[in-house]
Amino acid sequence: MSQPTIESILNEKRLFAPPADFVQKARINSPEAYQALYDKAKADPAGFWAELAETELHWFQKWDQVLDWQPPFAQWFVNGKLNITHNCLDRHLTTWRKNKAALIWEGEPGDSCTLTYAQLHREVCLFANVLKQLGIKKGDIVGIYMPMIPEAAIAMLACARIGAPHSVVFGGFSAEALRDRLNDGQAKLVITADGGFRKDKAVPLKAEVDKALANNAAPSVENVLVVQRTQEKIPMEPGRDHWWHDLRQGVSAVCPAEPMDSEDVLFVLYTSGSTGKPKGVVHTTGGYNLYTHMTTQWTFDIQDEDVYWCTADVGWITGHSYIVYGPLSNGATSLMYEGAPRASNPGCFWDVIEKYGVTIFYTAPTAIRAFIKMGEHLPNGRDLSSLRLLGTVGEPINPEAWMWYHKVIGKERCPIVDTWWQTETGGHMLTALPGAIATKPGSACMPLPGILADVVDLEGNPVPDNEGGYLVVRHPWPSMMRTVYGDDNRFRRTYWEHIAPKDGQYLYFAGDGARRDGDGYFWVMGRVDDVISVSGHRLGTMEIESALVSHGAVAEAAVVGKPDDLKGEAIVAFVTLEGDQIPNDALAQELRQHVVAEIGALARPEEIRFSEALPKTRSGKIMRRLLRSLASGQEVFGDTSTLEDRSVLDKLREGA
Ligand code: WTA
Repeated sequence: MSQPTIESILNEKRLFAPPADFVQKARINSPEAYQALYDKAKADPAGFWAELAETELHWFQKWDQVLDWQPPFAQWFVNGKLNITHNCLDRHLTTWRKNKAALIWEGEPGDSCTLTYAQLHREVCLFANVLKQLGIKKGDIVGIYMPMIPEAAIAMLACARIGAPHSVVFGGFSAEALRDRLNDGQAKLVITADGGFRKDKAVPLKAEVDKALANNAAPSVENVLVVQRTQEKIPMEPGRDHWWHDLRQGVSAVCPAEPMDSEDVLFVLYTSGSTGKPKGVVHTTGGYNLYTHMTTQWTFDIQDEDVYWCTADVGWITGHSYIVYGPLSNGATSLMYEGAPRASNPGCFWDVIEKYGVTIFYTAPTAIRAFIKMGEHLPNGRDLSSLRLLGTVGEPINPEAWMWYHKVIGKERCPIVDTWWQTETGGHMLTALPGAIATKPGSACMPLPGILADVVDLEGNPVPDNEGGYLVVRHPWPSMMRTVYGDDNRFRRTYWEHIAPKDGQYLYFAGDGARRDGDGYFWVMGRVDDVISVSGHRLGTMEIESALVSHGAVAEAAVVGKPDDLKGEAIVAFVTLEGDQIPNDALAQELRQHVVAEIGALARPEEIRFSEALPKTRSGKIMRRLLRSLASGQEVFGDTSTLEDRSVLDKLREGA
């Protein structure tokens, strides 16, 4: 079982109609209803989004103009004023939802808590006032480096409440990676915890923050706010480090939501690309609020009775859009789980579903592949009858894994929404609408209303049905990224210039290859750039290469992905050494550790292959295509005539 191959999905003919009882309750409940909405949005995008912004969100002040599009820079709801936390919290307090569960949280050791909308509102206001006391003002960037505890969501919302953009860094990233991100955004404050519980261990976080800040290496950071979670003993630096439980004492829980301009930055979130250091993807307030709100409704058809669980970490875009902002804006109940399947309880996910009566379950194909390996007896031993909808995100799902999910978890009665989107898109772009569109295993189905997705060639011409091409979007949408933080040129180069603008029309190119079938279904084939996806996490090959060459023993490195049953792709690094170095297992191990220290455990190379030289073109470019074939044990096909020195390839082959 690996990534879907072209053959496997070309042969995929199965079609699953939305179940009748699902359709009965659904907001969008027929193919015609979907088509009508899609056509309406296409005919008048500005009118379409304006109507939804008016009816679905609360604005302190209405906009003057729906869309100002100066390609590739878009502004939505120009001069509109709102605060996303008002939409996520305050407006529910005047309704019966005041005492409805907003967040249900379960910790890995089995502790748990539920926060109603009223309680969450109070906690957010209190937290926001503490941020103010620490000198945080509108426009200051705040780093968040947290385990999956309620305070992670509370901290994000507190930042948004006072207009301080948050920059959440996934807790699995190393101190080095954290420092780079804090420096890029000039963060003034870091919010963290002593640690978190994951896979039967207390994982330290504050220690990583200390390393990141040591020797004044992140000079913009003035304070560190620490939430107590694991109760491990940690050093606190006087004047810089503060316990959240100390600072909150006696602080007022009244904090009005700051009126934000629709285009004020809500957050920056770093993601890997094919070149250079990670990019700070910038999202702004109004468009992001509207689009995550609408897609949570459309894709999950979320209802008041639902207990919705997205298993992502808040450190990723999925956690931002579909644990925190989208569900809360809709007044839904969002479940957060700290833990992961682990030796002491491999079936913990199914325990959580049974315990809380989860109705909507949203996870990643890599997790599904791991569940398959752990065995059906685990989910079969739990009552999963509360489930009514399943979702996947992060990478293509192979039809076999889809079928397992459908049968073993969904008991053949839950639709599956395979959602294709990116950090950059802010929200879902392609998916099935569960009450309207019949699903095909392995297909991310159709574009959402307002999303003019297409498959084109490098000149921007649509390719015929069933032929592969580049997945692009033709018209701006409300939650599209606005720029790369501090680097408009990089934004333009990375997303808008690979495919030439045609007839004045700019195409957003996402980095993925895709194919559309004769029924209009999209099949995402995976990245066509130098980005690999390990367990659904994006990593740039260049980033890992830079980490490797920063080790004194390494002269040159080239990193590629090879297919992996569980992770989708595994990292293989081809390394040439400095003259005096001797290749051996100990050095390979040291290099792996070095990458972990530079980036994080998620980037650890599975294989290090030492080589005397790397295959290059005459112009000096490393031929990754050849290395990819070698790494996956395939014969090297295709054109090798541009190779500068053929003997390099022969040697690599012998070494394999
Ligand atoms: C991949 C995660 C196929 C894709 C939300 C994209 C997918 C990258 C799917 C973005 C899917 C995400 N089918 N591929 N349903 N969802 N991807 O920024 O390659 O972490 O470009 O956002 O994940 O990853 P990111």
